[in-house]
Amino acid sequence: MKTVKVLELEFSEFIDANEIAKAVKSIASQINKDMEGKNPLFLVVLNGAFMFAADLMKEISIPCEISFVKLSSYIGTKTTSTVRELIGLDEVLHDRTVVIVEDIIDTGITMGVTTEKLRKLEAKEVKIATLLFKPEAFKMNYKIDYLGIEIPNDFIVGYGLDYNGQGRNLPDIYKIIS
Ligand code: IMP
Ligand code: MG
Repeated sequence: MKTVKVLELEFSEFIDANEIAKAVKSIASQINKDMEGKNPLFLVVLNGAFMFAADLMKEISIPCEISFVKLSSYIGTKTTSTVRELIGLDEVLHDRTVVIVEDIIDTGITMGVTTEKLRKLEAKEVKIATLLFKPEAFKMNYKIDYLGIEIPNDFIVGYGLDYNGQGRNLPDIYKIIS
């Protein structure tokens, strides 16, 4: 089994790059179908979603735009319930279809806060696309429109996801060895 050390923690391979690519393609083809003619604005939540967003956008074949917001809720391996907005949005959202692009939905708080903000900015339609979802950790009750892979409630790194800033560059996803 492939393992990796990130700072002081050990991780073992959990989802390989091929499986990730399949999930990304499947999300993209659903979006291509649903968003045809809507000129959606893809809003990528940095930092974690940068790699997913880059791969996803290469599979999107309809006219669209892309922008970025930077949010942070994690400290170390624990989520905190306060979401800090580190870089804000500068696009006009009025009457637009927005697809939020996230790496992972854990408690769901970050996405809850984000969708609420977008609705206040009068977006016409707000959809959520996430590569990963931890159903056991989810505390909210909104719908996730586009979902790649459901995973157990374990801490992971790789493919954009970090542990204290490290590990984002790994092409596969690794799970903590506890
Ligand atoms: P939520 O607000 O609890 O849903 O947390 C979402 C954010 O926390 C995600 O956008 C990730 O950036 C980060 N996060 C959640 N779970 C993990 C994980 O297992 N590893 C690394 N980051 C995570
Ligand atoms: Mg994220």
